[in-house]
This record gives sequence, structure tokens and C-alpha cells, in this order.
Amino acid sequence: MRASEIRRLIQLKPVELDAARRRLAACHDIHELRKSARRVIPRPVFDYVDGAADEELSMAANERAFRRWRFQPRALTGINEVDTATRLLDRDLPLPLVLAPTGYTRMMHPAGESGVARAAQRHRLPYTLSTMSTTSIEDVAAAAQPDLWFQLYIQNDEGLTKELVNRADAAGYRVLVVTVDTFVTGHRTRDERNGLTIPPALTMATIGNIAIKPAYWIRMLRSEAIDFANFTGTGSRPGAAPGSGSAAGATTIEGTGSMFNPNVSWDDIVALRARWPGKLIIKGPVSAADATRAAELGVDGLQLSNHGGRQLDRTVPPVDLITRVRDAVGPDVAVLVDSGVRHGADIAVALALGADACAIGRAYLYGLMAGGEPGVDKVIGILTGQFIRTLHLLGVSSVAELRAAGRELLTAP
Ligand SMILES: Cc1cc2nc3c(=O)[nH]c(=O)nc-3n(C[C@H](O)[C@H](O)[C@H](O)COP(=O)(O)O)c2cc1C
Repeated sequence: MRASEIRRLIQLKPVELDAARRRLAACHDIHELRKSARRVIPRPVFDYVDGAADEELSMAANERAFRRWRFQPRALTGINEVDTATRLLDRDLPLPLVLAPTGYTRMMHPAGESGVARAAQRHRLPYTLSTMSTTSIEDVAAAAQPDLWFQLYIQNDEGLTKELVNRADAAGYRVLVVTVDTFVTGHRTRDERNGLTIPPALTMATIGNIAIKPAYWIRMLRSEAIDFANFTGTGSRPGAAPGSGSAAGATTIEGTGSMFNPNVSWDDIVALRARWPGKLIIKGPVSAADATRAAELGVDGLQLSNHGGRQLDRTVPPVDLITRVRDAVGPDVAVLVDSGVRHGADIAVALALGADACAIGRAYLYGLMAGGEPGVDKVIGILTGQFIRTLHLLGVSSVAELRAAGRELLTAP
């Protein structure tokens, strides 16, 4: 065979000169993006994202809980195309997927919250901005207009809670997500070990990391200083928790919990329902009884979540709550699930069990850390492709059909 014939048979991929794009091109699933992020991000930052509370039992159980279900596909259903469109909280979505709130996102990459919101907008998916964001409510709304949701930590300072809610409303956020599992922050063992502080304190270990991950630090030093953007100018700033052992002037991430009101109760939900004109969601490991109570108070949706295992360790995996909560609240209350979603097949499992949509946290942060904003696009692309293929191989042609078939497509773990 002549060289020209071989060339026609074997097409060489053009060499990618941009390092981030090259990294992303080499990743084919979320696990590879995680590994790629670990290679380029300083250990304390990677561990902040990748780690969880105490012995990290919840985090491990979350992923296992999705994966222990087995599919029972339908045979010979003759499907040409899979329709992944769905409706969530009165909005049409191309995919039953929401980007969950994550604090300190600019610490992972300067593209930060705005970059993630732009990626969400490109894919027409909702993006949830965290109370503890490093880009303000207003700046994110100016940078991108996906379906914007705002996640609220109810503050010790009642006036500040009202102000945050009013600002989110004024800036066009449509859904308020009230997190109910963070009255105090969980004990993040890896952060404590790494001495992770905001702003990052240059300990010897951190300096060691600067040397081995220069690209990260060059990016960070060229971008604006990281701050708790929603509190700038409010006179409130997260203070170090007593006994947190943080350096003077710096706050361990765990210490930020000192701002949150530990006495949050159902009365706060009643007050927020009265104040917030849009859709209201409660985010936490909500039981069937609590879900019923929330629905009675006019809550529109429940985001079943154990914070990715970052709060109470040994909390039930949220995917195991879906059936009970759906049975309790009926079809009219939206049920979302997060904590452990790493594959499009996880979304299919959740929907077959009765959820309306899934949310992702770490998955998009791994993409962001590995390759900035295009990394978030990559994550959404991977999950979309996996979800479509799963439905096709299951023999269902749409999200509606998947949800109608439900448990028929799953065998008990
Ligand atoms: C780095 C990081 C920061 C987070 N910050 C917040 C936050 O500020 N508010 C919140 O309600 N949840 C927060 N979460 C939890 C996520 O919203 C979501 O529940 C969790 O990431 C889902 O689990 P997964 O990472 O396994 O997908 C955070 C999660 C991570 C990984």
C-alpha cells in the first residue's frame, strides 16, 4: 500500500496548540475531567471542590446510590430520534438539568460564576447563583441571562436576608432556592488539613503549590481579587468562626457559616413565600413529611440534596428519597435531585424514579477547573450525549415517555 493510500485511510487529528482545549479534548467523561482538573489545580482548591464532610461517607454513597440501579430496556421500539425536552417550573428546557449553586467559583477559575452562567445560557439551562458567590447578583445578571435562579442562605441579619432577596428579584432571578441543610457548615476535613482560607493565605504548603501549578496562579494573579461579592458594601462580611483557628484577617471556608442563621424554621419559609414573587424551592435532604409541609406552605419545588455530602455526613443519598417524596407531594410539585450526578444515565435513573430534573455541582466545576468556560460546555455536552444514548438504548423516545414508563425501566438494586 502506498503512503498516499494510507493517508486517506488514517486521518491524523490536527495538533491543538491551546493547552486547555487540548486537555478538554482528551476527556471523554466526567471522571476524566476530574482527573484533568486535579493535575492542573493546586491541591487545596481541588480538595475544596472534590472533598466532603467528615469521613466523606455521604459523598461516596451518593454516587453508589445512582449506580446500583439496573436498566430493563424496552425491545424493538423503533426510535429515530430522542426528544430530551422537558418542562420545569413553567419553563421549557432542552434537557432536565440545572446547574446547582456553588460558592467561591472564581477560586476555581477566573471565568467564575459569569462563565458558568454564560455556558448555561448557551445550552438554555437554568443556572443557580450561590449566596456565597464571588461575582455579585447584579454582575452575573449583566454577564448572562440564562434562566437565573438565586440560592439563599438565610442570614443572621434579617435585613440582609431581605436585601439579598430584593436584589435577586430586581435583577431578574426567577427562582429562589432556599438551602435548609447549612445552619452550621459541615466539617470539611480536607479544608482543615489544607488550611484553606479566603483570601488564600500563603502557607508554606500553598507556596509549594504555586511552584508546581504556575498556570493557575498566573491566571489568578491577573484577575480581580476574590471576595464575597454579594456582601461588598453591605457592612457584613463573613467572619471567622470562633475556634476555627484561622489566621487573623482570613476566614476558613468553614468559618463563613457564622453568618448563617442557625435558628431557621418553617416561619422563615412562610415569610419568604410571602415576600418572593417567583417560584420557591427548598434545597436539602427533605423527607416525605417535610416535603408535604413545604407544599402546603406554597413551595413550588424540592431540590433533594445532601449538599454533595458536604454537610451532615451519613445523610441518606437524595436519589433514595425521590420515590417517597414524589408519592407524598403528587405530580404538581417539582422534584429535583442532586448529589452524585456524574453521568447522563444518572439523570435517566432519577427521572424513572419520579424526579423532574437533576442538578449538578462538582461535575461542572471539574470542567471549569480543567478548561475554564469551555470546560463547562464540555460537561453539559458529555451529559447530554450520555442521556440521549441511554434513552435510545432504553427504547424510549422522550423524557415524557421515560417518566411515564418509570420503574418499569429499572430493576431493584
Ligand atoms: C465547591 C462547592 C460549593 C458549594 N456551594 C454551595 C452553596 O454555596 N450553596 C448551596 O446551596 N450548595 C452549595 N454546594 C452544593 C451544590 O449546590 C450541590 O448540592 C452539590 O454540589 C451536589 O452534589 P455533586 O457535587 O455531587 O453534584 C456546593 C458544592 C460544591 C462542590
